[in-house]
Amino acid sequence: MSAAVTIAELAKHVGQTVALSGWLYNSRSSGKLLFLIMRDGTGLCQCVLEKTDANADMFDAARHLGQESSLMVTGVVRADERSTGGHELTASDVQIVQAVEGYPITPKAHGIEFLMKHRHLWFRSQRQWAIMRVRATIIDAIRGHLNSNGFVLIDTPIFAPSAGEGAQTLFQVDYFGEPVYLAQTGQLYVESACMAHRKVYCFGPTFRAEKSKTRRHLTEFWMVEPEVAYADLNEILAIAEDFTCSVVQRVLRDHRAELETLGRDVSALEKIQKPFYRLTYSEVGEILRSDRVREMLNADLERTKARVAELNKLIEDKEAERAAQGTKKWKQEKLAQEIVEHREELADREEEVRNIPHHAELAANFEWGSDLGGSDETIIARMHDRPVFVTHYPRACKAFYMKRNADDHRLVNNFDMLAPEGYGEVIGGSQREDDLDVLLEAMQAQKLDQADYEWYLDLRRYGTVPHAGFGLGVERTVTWLCGLKHIRETIPYARMMGKIYP
Ligand code: 4AD
Ligand code: MG
Repeated sequence: MSAAVTIAELAKHVGQTVALSGWLYNSRSSGKLLFLIMRDGTGLCQCVLEKTDANADMFDAARHLGQESSLMVTGVVRADERSTGGHELTASDVQIVQAVEGYPITPKAHGIEFLMKHRHLWFRSQRQWAIMRVRATIIDAIRGHLNSNGFVLIDTPIFAPSAGEGAQTLFQVDYFGEPVYLAQTGQLYVESACMAHRKVYCFGPTFRAEKSKTRRHLTEFWMVEPEVAYADLNEILAIAEDFTCSVVQRVLRDHRAELETLGRDVSALEKIQKPFYRLTYSEVGEILRSDRVREMLNADLERTKARVAELNKLIEDKEAERAAQGTKKWKQEKLAQEIVEHREELADREEEVRNIPHHAELAANFEWGSDLGGSDETIIARMHDRPVFVTHYPRACKAFYMKRNADDHRLVNNFDMLAPEGYGEVIGGSQREDDLDVLLEAMQAQKLDQADYEWYLDLRRYGTVPHAGFGLGVERTVTWLCGLKHIRETIPYARMMGKIYP
């Protein structure tokens, strides 16, 4: 009997006969040789089957297998530098588990709508496979870093009786006839826990009824929220900095191959080192209104317009070549695929051409007092090669629980961490208001019903201390580290406005 192994384990079995079990990713044949590219969940491996008099039936059956047929292949492992994954199998036996035809996701390019509708199958493709592996490691690195730095995991409820962030983004559910909400954050609950355990975190799904269809927003996303008693803003910034570096390092250590599959510029991630940049909200306002930003956006617009023209020309030329007489079938297919890709990029670039002037206007007209918009964050994030902590926002535009600044009562001791290369906000956090009277005043100003928060106010009545924490969004982090354009590919089943299937 040959040993059943996975593709990831092949290095330990060079020269031995092994059995792989998996699915057919791709195949081609040339005369008496059949090349089956197999995937088994741990990697890809090319299995080469040679036709002989004895195996002619098996060879023919294997040759006609469609993409994603399930199969088992036995053969001898050979090390081969040029081969995907570095090994090849010289096959002696192919057993078909299920022969299939018409797998919907072919190697040719598909539109994003189609792929999202086939998410249950799309998982199997190389890019999606790579993203999910990085996601799993990010989650593991988050837990690992916090667990080994004295943080205690405290699970917080998902049914919440009142708002934790803003009332505008609550999902209401019927709780035995009572209206309750899906948690937007576990923060208020981990605040109570940090008074018991000092350093705590919660980590789970959170919900926001965001009526925005941006490339950064999900209605269901995962957030980790550390909270530390006796920490002020500076101390929590240092914690967020170490935490971020540790997660990035872990991804760089474990996922070079996946990042390469994704075409991620790894050198940009290697720059993620302490210290991160620190800017105040007011300084950001100055930058947004500066000539430097105006010129940067003008140059963007020109470059993007030029690319639009270039893409239009490429599409036109390729359409012509595809339609021309004498173009071989394989060439037509290759052109068709490239055209789909150009069209997708064209749609993105045209949207940018429409948006850039608007973003420039928003930046130029920035007024002190309002929250930073997504485009403002992108601008600041693009101007830096390491994460930027933006601190001290106006109190009026921020959540009620943030600590009022002692020197300037118009400000709070909060921060957002913006990821570089334009990725924008990945972390939001603050020191918390620990003074009962100031907290009550903030709640009144935001028209929150005190009765809903009596338990939370008890934390200020019985042994209140300075404390601080933050929330890091897992999907925003995956988007950044994988270098993706859109958040929708970072979670197994994305929930967005207008998107719930499958
Ligand atoms: O800035 P936010 O809203 O902060 C809080 O919820 C605080 N209670 C956290 C805390 O201090 N304990 O959200 C924190 C992070 C954001 O920086 C972002 O990464 C992510 O959560 N996030 C979202 N991710 C995807 N889709 C959305 N709609 C998100 N809203 C927030
Ligand atoms: Mg935020």
